[in-house]
Amino acid sequence: MRKNRPSYLSVVLLWASLATVQAQNAPVLQQAESGTLGADWTTATQNSVQYISVVPTATIAAQNPGTAARVATYTVTFPGPGTYDLYARVRVGAGAANDDSFYYGNGFGTKSPANDNDWITINQVAGVGYTIGSQVVDGAGSAQSNVWKWVNMSKIGGAETPISFTITAGNLTQTFQLGAREDGFDIDKVVFGTTGLYFTVTNLDNGQQGSVNPPPPPFTPVGPPMATGKPKFLGGVHSTPQLANFTAYWNQVVPENAGKWGSVEATRDVMNWTELDAAYKLAKDNGYPFRMHVLIWGSQQPTWIATLPAAEQLAEINQWYAAVAQRYPAIDFLEVVNEPLHQPPGPNSGGGNYLNALGGNGTTGWDWIITSFQLARQYFPTTKLMLNDYSVENTATSAQQYLGIVNLLKARNLIDVVGIQGHAFSTRNTPAASLTANLNTLASAGLPLYITELDIDGVNAQNQLDDQVQLAEYQRVFPVFWEHPAIKGVTMWGYRPGHWRTAQGAQLVNEDNTERAALVWLKNYVKSTTLGTTKADNAAISLFPNPVTNGSFTLKGIAHINTIRVLDIRGQVVQEATLHNQIAVDMKLNLRPGIYVVQLLDGKTVASKKLMIK
Ligand code: XIL
Repeated sequence: MRKNRPSYLSVVLLWASLATVQAQNAPVLQQAESGTLGADWTTATQNSVQYISVVPTATIAAQNPGTAARVATYTVTFPGPGTYDLYARVRVGAGAANDDSFYYGNGFGTKSPANDNDWITINQVAGVGYTIGSQVVDGAGSAQSNVWKWVNMSKIGGAETPISFTITAGNLTQTFQLGAREDGFDIDKVVFGTTGLYFTVTNLDNGQQGSVNPPPPPFTPVGPPMATGKPKFLGGVHSTPQLANFTAYWNQVVPENAGKWGSVEATRDVMNWTELDAAYKLAKDNGYPFRMHVLIWGSQQPTWIATLPAAEQLAEINQWYAAVAQRYPAIDFLEVVNEPLHQPPGPNSGGGNYLNALGGNGTTGWDWIITSFQLARQYFPTTKLMLNDYSVENTATSAQQYLGIVNLLKARNLIDVVGIQGHAFSTRNTPAASLTANLNTLASAGLPLYITELDIDGVNAQNQLDDQVQLAEYQRVFPVFWEHPAIKGVTMWGYRPGHWRTAQGAQLVNEDNTERAALVWLKNYVKSTTLGTTKADNAAISLFPNPVTNGSFTLKGIAHINTIRVLDIRGQVVQEATLHNQIAVDMKLNLRPGIYVVQLLDGKTVASKKLMIK
């Protein structure tokens, strides 16, 4: 007998349980500008979104709009009886908390403008709402100001208990009213959606029905960190939005803002270590290296220090160093100076204005940096000292300039490692070969390099989140850093929404922690890439004649090599060739006499041979 036909009893039970589910009437969409608008309302259009807002600036402090001029009235016909939640697509203006409240009628019908009982006040909309298509517009959400976002007005209150709307059979057409409370609050449209259904942003945008089933639970990644067991770390940034699932992905820690002098000592002699302690603890509890960001910088510095006499500033700098050294005895990497080429501690707002207290530019041009590092050696004798900056990997000139500072410090035995921030605004539009060439320049000081603040954007030309755009850029840029032999570790400057480049889509996961394509690729790439140097194989490769006289030479024993690069002594790639399982190759160079480096790459490793051209 066939077993898979449903029995009569189960069909009856299914029918009975469906009947208990609420009627699923289609959502009812109402454009805000389609109503009868009181005289204080205005209609505007921006980027093809038509919306309404109220003109007079005064905020009504009461729990009602006060006057008919601030009321908008709609006649709404529902498809059937049931209970509905009120959703609104709104935008809170630049005033944030001063632009984020409004009213809706306490039930259907024409309301009395000045009667508190007739209105529901909705407030504190600035920090709630949803913008991402797949998000369910259910609880509070976390969208901010200046964006169009959906809010479930029957779920969020912020001032008064919100309500749902009930429609009974035979009374399908109803009057509904909105009231203005603050200017700067824009309303695009409202949707009445059946209570109990789950509406996503996409559903509401398109007037689609919500779903009966709750959204899947947030994604939980399984660790360990992808660089576990690798000779390099792949670290992450510690801050509230970036904390979730940290140890499933990253194995090194740097505080995003908590270690900046302006965060720790906003008020003179009142130290706030709370979040910095948490970052340090995360690293030490898990055995991850900890990088302290940052002692000396020209941004996010205490304001009080800017106006002190130089001698007092220097005393405060000493106290700051001593306090950090005492509190965190096992810092692995210490950023002594950040952004020397871009943001020295000058008189700009938040810049600290203490450059002269450290000796000014002086005869080296960078005396203040030398003093900063001398003090660091004194207070942190066993810690690796780091210089850090951005946009030194995208132009040869900046790389040289940065190298100059590194060499000044190195000559005085004051620096151990070199930081390169690696932000998207530096790597974007920079060919991989130029990045490599500039890294080679920076590596020529002989110190380990670290990518300290990596991010790669993920939006398309229309500024919409685009996973494929981000994936392609990750595949182009990340291996250049990860496989460079001088780079000993990479730190991501965030990976979740709330990232400082969220507007550019640099986050690697979505709100629900699901992984974007670039992260899926990155995990696989890091796990499957073998890093190291081919010193042993090096010996098997012969290059002759050397010195070269007429520009021609032959390489033998290169069967596994797929790329040959010739670099000049500044680390610039001057010639490149692709190979296909050849055992020998003849190369002809059209180069000036001098010393060059021939790099042999097999996709995972780099070996080098010195070449002299006569
Ligand atoms: C950024 C943080 O990510 C933001 O949260 C903050 O608002 C501004 O600073 N270079 C640095 C970092 O060295 O400290 C900066 O961090 C990004 C640029």
